[in-house]
Amino acid sequence: MAHVPVLLKETVEALNPRRGETLVDGTVGGGGHLSVLLERMNGGGRFVAMDLDEKNLSSAREMIENKYPQAEQHWIKGNYADTLATLKFLGIEAADMLLLDLGFSSEHLESGRGFSFLKPEEALDMRYNDSIGATAADIVNGSTESELENIFKKYGEEKFAKKAAREIVQARKGKKIKLVGQLLEVIKHSVPSRGRVNPATRIFQALRIAVNDELGNLERVLADLPSIMSADGRVAIISFHSLEDRMVKNAFRDLSKTGRAELIFKKPAAASPGERRINPRSRSAKLRAIKMTSKAGKIKANNKK
Ligand SMILES: C[S@@+](CC[C@H](N)C(=O)[O-])C[C@H]1O[C@@H](n2cnc3c(N)ncnc32)[C@H](O)[C@@H]1O
Repeated sequence: MAHVPVLLKETVEALNPRRGETLVDGTVGGGGHLSVLLERMNGGGRFVAMDLDEKNLSSAREMIENKYPQAEQHWIKGNYADTLATLKFLGIEAADMLLLDLGFSSEHLESGRGFSFLKPEEALDMRYNDSIGATAADIVNGSTESELENIFKKYGEEKFAKKAAREIVQARKGKKIKLVGQLLEVIKHSVPSRGRVNPATRIFQALRIAVNDELGNLERVLADLPSIMSADGRVAIISFHSLEDRMVKNAFRDLSKTGRAELIFKKPAAASPGERRINPRSRSAKLRAIKMTSKAGKIKANNKK
């Protein structure tokens, strides 16, 4: 299933691309947003396309690279949390546009890496970058009961976090939990069914967020925004989780209160009923955007001296 970009029109409007500018797409995924933004830049300018997932990055590259030969292109398998260091490494002073479309892509559900509870035979991996770091199975088998409970509570807002954590610890005493199906079996006994929503939904979301340190990455990039962006630069962030949205909202509010940025939307943009119908993933999406001011530029210039 190909990834359908969410809130595309609103994102393009917020970033307001112009020819000759520098765009950073920190979460290139299937390249849906990137393609449209590049068209709006008339194929010119410069862009840095980043993704932790090698496969997503290379398929997007295959689709886009030859279409825009006049653009200066940088394809980076890396973490958007390292955007500032990446720009320095590439010799780019600042970005005029930064897009982060957080979380997983539809391709991940088909990646064979245990993102979907509909694939019981797959190994519990869930890493975007499958060459480094702990897998979901490492967390499930290696965390204490209270660590697991915290993960399920904090990242999944799962009401039955305590029970699920207890059952996991009990179950793994007999045999390590390595497969999606084994975890589903344990969840079945600890989280009741909720209508049409699979009882494993929140536990799977929580594990994915923990495995990929999704909140930690967001925190790092938000802290670096004044150094990453040019004066007049635009930042658009699409989130799918209330904790992420709160972090973005607070960071943008602080930048606007100190005069370093202006909010592009007073309230976050959400998908229209039409988009929600066509693309269920868009239902929880929230887009927030800011435009940096020249004050941010001055602070940046002073910091460099
Ligand atoms: C929602 S998808 C992006 C979809 C894209 N905007 C499109 O239109 O096709 C999110 C992508 O971000 C990547 N990703 C998640 N966390 C990341 C991180 N910290 N750094 C870089 N890429 C990340 C995932 O691998 C995934 O491909």
